[in-house]
Amino acid sequence: MAQLRSSDEVADTPMAAASEIPQLQPARWWHLAALAQLERELFPADPWSVETFVAELAAGRLLQVAIDEHGQLRGYVDVAVNGRDADLMTIAVERPSAGQGWGRALLSWACQQAEAAGAERMLLEVRSGNTAEQLYRRAGFERIDVRRRYYPDGGDAIVMVKSLVSRPGRSEGGLVRNA
Ligand SMILES: CC(C)(COP(=O)(O)OP(=O)(O)OC[C@H]1O[C@@H](n2cnc3c(N)ncnc32)[C@H](O)[C@@H]1OP(=O)(O)O)[C@@H](O)C(=O)NCCC(=O)NCCS
Repeated sequence: MAQLRSSDEVADTPMAAASEIPQLQPARWWHLAALAQLERELFPADPWSVETFVAELAAGRLLQVAIDEHGQLRGYVDVAVNGRDADLMTIAVERPSAGQGWGRALLSWACQQAEAAGAERMLLEVRSGNTAEQLYRRAGFERIDVRRRYYPDGGDAIVMVKSLVSRPGRSEGGLVRNA
C-alpha cells in the first residue's frame, strides 16, 4: 500500500479540483464489496471478485476508487508497476456517471502515479470494439499490437502504450513489447 498516494496528494488531481466530481482515494477493504458489485455490472462475462481485489491490494497495486459526496463508489482504476513498465489492469466508471470525465480523470491519475513509481510507459489491453479505446487514444495511447482471439469468446485484444516520460529530448525508443 506504500505506493498509493496519501489523501493529501489527492488535492493535486484534476478530479479533485472539480467540486462536482468525486474524490479519488486509495481503495480500502470496505470498498471491495462495492468494487465487486460494479465489476458484475460492467464486466458480466468475467467479473473480478472480492478475492481478486484483495489480491490486488496485497500485491501493492495502485488501486484507486472515485467516491462521491455520499460515499458512493462511482469508478475505479487499478495499475501494476513492474520496473519501467506499468500495466493498466482495469478501469471502470458506473454507467449512470459515464461520459462526465471521470474515466479521463482516473486514467490521468493512473499515469501520474505510475510515473511517480518509476514507470516509463503504460501498457494496456482493450477488447476490439470497446469504446474505451477512444478514451485511451484521447489520453495519448497508441496501438502497438492486436492479439487475435485473445479472449475466451474469440474476441481480439488491442495492445496500446503511452510513454510516461515527459522530459523533452529523451528517447522514447523500446516502446514496443513482444506480444
Ligand atoms: C471506458 C470508461 C471507463 C470511460 O469512462 P467515462 O467516465 O465514461 O469517460 P470520460 O467521460 O472520462 O470520457 C473520456 C473520453 O473517452 C471517450 N469516450 C468515453 N466514453 C465513450 C463512448 N461511449 N463512446 C466514445 N467515446 C467515449 C471520449 O473520447 C472522451 O473524451 P471527450 O469527452 O473529450 O470526447 C467507462 O465507459 C466504462 O467504465 N466502461 C465499461 C468498463 C470498460 O470497458 N472499461 C475498460 C476496460 S479496458
